[in-house]
Amino acid sequence: MTSSPNPPSAAWELLVPAASAPARARGRALQEALRDAVRAGRLAPGTRLPSSRDLAGDLGVSRGLITEAYEQLTAEGYLRTGRGAGTWVGAAVRAAAPGVRDLAPRPSAGVRADFVAGSPDLSLFPRAAWAAAQRGVLAELPHQDLGYPDPRGLPRLRTALAELLARRRGVVADPERIIVCSGVTQAVTLLGIVLHARGQDGIGVESPGSPQYEELFATAGPRAVRLPMDDEGLVMEPLRGSGVRAVVTTPSHHFPSGIAYSAARRAHLLDWAREVDGLVVEDDYDGDFRYDRAPVGALQGLDPEHVAYTGSVSKSLAPGLRLGWLVVPDGLTEEIVARKRYMDLGNPALDQAVLARFVERGDYDRQLRRCQRAYKERRDALAAALEAHLPGTEVSGIAAGLHAIATLPARYGPQEALLRKLAACGVAVRPLRHYGGDAAGDAIPLVLGYAHLTPARITEGIRLLARAAQELDHARVHSTRR
Ligand SMILES: Cc1ncc(COP(=O)(O)O)c(C=O)c1O
Repeated sequence: MTSSPNPPSAAWELLVPAASAPARARGRALQEALRDAVRAGRLAPGTRLPSSRDLAGDLGVSRGLITEAYEQLTAEGYLRTGRGAGTWVGAAVRAAAPGVRDLAPRPSAGVRADFVAGSPDLSLFPRAAWAAAQRGVLAELPHQDLGYPDPRGLPRLRTALAELLARRRGVVADPERIIVCSGVTQAVTLLGIVLHARGQDGIGVESPGSPQYEELFATAGPRAVRLPMDDEGLVMEPLRGSGVRAVVTTPSHHFPSGIAYSAARRAHLLDWAREVDGLVVEDDYDGDFRYDRAPVGALQGLDPEHVAYTGSVSKSLAPGLRLGWLVVPDGLTEEIVARKRYMDLGNPALDQAVLARFVERGDYDRQLRRCQRAYKERRDALAAALEAHLPGTEVSGIAAGLHAIATLPARYGPQEALLRKLAACGVAVRPLRHYGGDAAGDAIPLVLGYAHLTPARITEGIRLLARAAQELDHARVHSTRR
């Protein structure tokens, strides 16, 4: 057998959240976490696992749970054991493509507080109103509407969306230029494929930014060209120098820094697009949620021939619906529709009809108002808890969306040690660094999603975070005294 030495203890931190799951669920959570780590390639084939006694000690769980997990995963073929040779990761397991799991923001099971960014509160999904819309659609939908749909989307939905996007976001939205698609993800993929087919090898993406675009373009064809941001938006000089003619942006609420593009930068971006006969892709993923004033209108409204606008119901209703929209300049419509046709022949007709009815009857506006109230309260709870428990922390970005940046002063660090400590305490946070950004000096910028947590859970999570930071500080003071 060839096996690599034990991975650094950080690798076992993958199991820490599972180890703090409630006692009844702990054994199963440990098995799932270990299985996931092997499948995703975070534990490479050949990696030797610690003895059950050592791992149980490190994680603070009973040795029986670890032995059971090793036995179960050995039986399933994920792990191998040899007499006297210990336990190691089997060679036959094929790791999933790296990064794929990171695309969808979803809270992890078994963690005491998970500040994952980008997840709405799924318990706010309007089940009764949605069920009523479904019943209404089933009662009234003509038989022929159950045939293959128009690949652009049901005309009824495109008309409803055109009205909604014009009214709420200032989008110039002719139903003929709207393509209903499976979320922003498919919209950006379609654009990537079409622009690549037109000879564009590279497409600009914001850095820091959402990791998903790089993954999407890796399958769609073009290279993702990372372009730096400052506190007004994309920096123009690197964009001009990059040679790209299309760039994906989040101008209403940049992900993840939380800034809104300044008026000047919005104008410069459009000037650039006109100069190079290029395209700004506007990802308006959470543009409906603004808590201190009315949301700034979409960039697309200023120049519909140079901006492709996309959004979805993933933040307002539920990401599992996989419903979104793309509004494209005239010259791109036909090619995008052709790609959409060959990709999946259009989105499911019933779901589209339900969303159309939901929008037409004002239910969508009601849902947005309900989420807006809840998320504003949660953002306020987050800011108050940070002020109370982690004094000196700066909350930055506009009061909008589903996440905020909290920059902890350097005294709560160093960053690595704090992140390790938080993982060990079952508090899941992502540093800004995870998205390609960082702060000046030793300050610690964290991207904190709050929309999926109640105010009480937010306060409790920040209290846990603060306690971990204090314990770290305490340990440091002790070790320097010794
Ligand atoms: C920046 C950004 N854009 C778009 C989305 C949503 O993608 P989709 O509409 O495909 O669910 C997300 C989801 O987290 C996101 O963070």
